[in-house]
Amino acid sequence: MQPSRRDDAASSHSAAAGDARTMAGYSADTYGRAFADVYDDWYHDLSDVDALAALVDGRAPVGAVCELGVGTGRVALAITARGRRVIGIDVSAEMLEQLAVNDTGRTIVAVRGDMVDDLGSATHGEHITAVVAAYNTVFNLHTESRQRALFASVASVLAPDGIFIVEAAVPPSDDDHGTTVGVRSMTTERVVLSVARHHGDDHIAEGHFIEFTDGDRVRLRPWSIRYLTIAEIDQMATDAGLVLESRLADWDGSTFTPGADNHISIYRRPT
Ligand SMILES: C[S@@+](CC[C@H](N)C(=O)[O-])C[C@H]1O[C@@H](n2cnc3c(N)ncnc32)[C@H](O)[C@@H]1O
Repeated sequence: MQPSRRDDAASSHSAAAGDARTMAGYSADTYGRAFADVYDDWYHDLSDVDALAALVDGRAPVGAVCELGVGTGRVALAITARGRRVIGIDVSAEMLEQLAVNDTGRTIVAVRGDMVDDLGSATHGEHITAVVAAYNTVFNLHTESRQRALFASVASVLAPDGIFIVEAAVPPSDDDHGTTVGVRSMTTERVVLSVARHHGDDHIAEGHFIEFTDGDRVRLRPWSIRYLTIAEIDQMATDAGLVLESRLADWDGSTFTPGADNHISIYRRPT
């Protein structure tokens, strides 16, 4: 599997306990610790967040929005810029520290916690009409049961008629067990290599960005994901009582067509 937006992105993770194929030592906050200092530099242009915010506003025009894995606020800031209340939950202290730097107007209600276990308390008393999981955030949970639990948690906090927006990569085929090494960036004084491996049987893709700076130490930036097919995501949503409303190829609203690299799936909680 080549380093790609999917790998680069997917990033995070969640508790690795019991996940035999996830790299040793990886836990829920590993990604944030490894990427918070470079996240905005590396990923600021991942997607059109103004279009994302407009889409959220159009599909759920009232009430509060909750972003799972809010990170440095890349997405949430675009939504609050439209005057919407956003509660952002993230397990990483480092990511939330960077969010505090970026959110100079203190527009985001940032909560440190686990997006499965702490979603109820983070959103308690709020009329949540949209929950957003951007950039493969669902894949940061490393077991099927945790991913299923996330859909149940989201369904339990959504107001009737509220929506759950899931942005995710379309995964590689399960028979791909490749290991890849590539170059992410290179100057005369610094090179960032990307190493990745893929356990198709377990739906685990993981790797490191390895940063070598001349005369300085080596910096490892680990990431690990458990990816899901579109059909699996649909099933988890259905099992949580959510109904697929539409599937898009991008935040501008282009219709998803098979073969696309990413999808944006919008599920609604029935009234
Ligand atoms: C790929 S980043 C996406 C950040 C942001 N949503 C964006 O699109 O730019 C995934 C985020 O999820 C967070 N995260 C990972 N596992 C989590 C968990 N179990 N609960 C809450 N946040 C988690 C990470 O710390 C990280 O900030």
